[in-house]
Amino acid sequence: MCPGTFDPITAGHLDIIERAASLFDELVVGVAVSPEKGGGPLFSIDERCEHVRVAVQHLSNVKVQPFDNLLVDFAEEVGATVIIKGLRAVTDFEREFQMAQLNYSIDSSIETMFIMAIPEYMYLSSSAVKEIARHNGPVRGLVPEVVLVALTARLTLSR
Ligand code: PNS
Repeated sequence: MCPGTFDPITAGHLDIIERAASLFDELVVGVAVSPEKGGGPLFSIDERCEHVRVAVQHLSNVKVQPFDNLLVDFAEEVGATVIIKGLRAVTDFEREFQMAQLNYSIDSSIETMFIMAIPEYMYLSSSAVKEIARHNGPVRGLVPEVVLVALTARLTLSR
């Protein structure tokens, strides 16, 4: 299972999902409803799930599901034994290490595994994409096409 907030899904997320999908028979992408992150998401849970669904439609072994419970409980619900996270620059490490430790302490039957981001996506994040888009900057190539369209529509409306 590959969890995240995906607000919105980026090309970096998609690369990790594609690589994880080639390693496992089945992959569930879990979209977190209420991330413990400040500010609130730009896209609703339905919109984020839809963006991910469209972006992964070429991957036949990938399913997309929202979740609003503990990650390890959701993993058990969908029958996942491995949590896959993408790891970018060292700044991700502390937070991811803490989450992996916490999840392991709650349920040690579920392992967290990390896939390193490719250099091209090392500094790409959903927040950076939103920031660039808000200032009318170029986000083509940084996000799947479906997100490019949604971002343009959302930010044009709020201008
Ligand atoms: O894309 P993100 O914001 O890095 O994803 C974070 C996410 C959704 C994986 C994390 O917030 C999460 O696991 N939320 C579910 C609640 C939970 O289980 N918290 C305890 C683990 S730290």
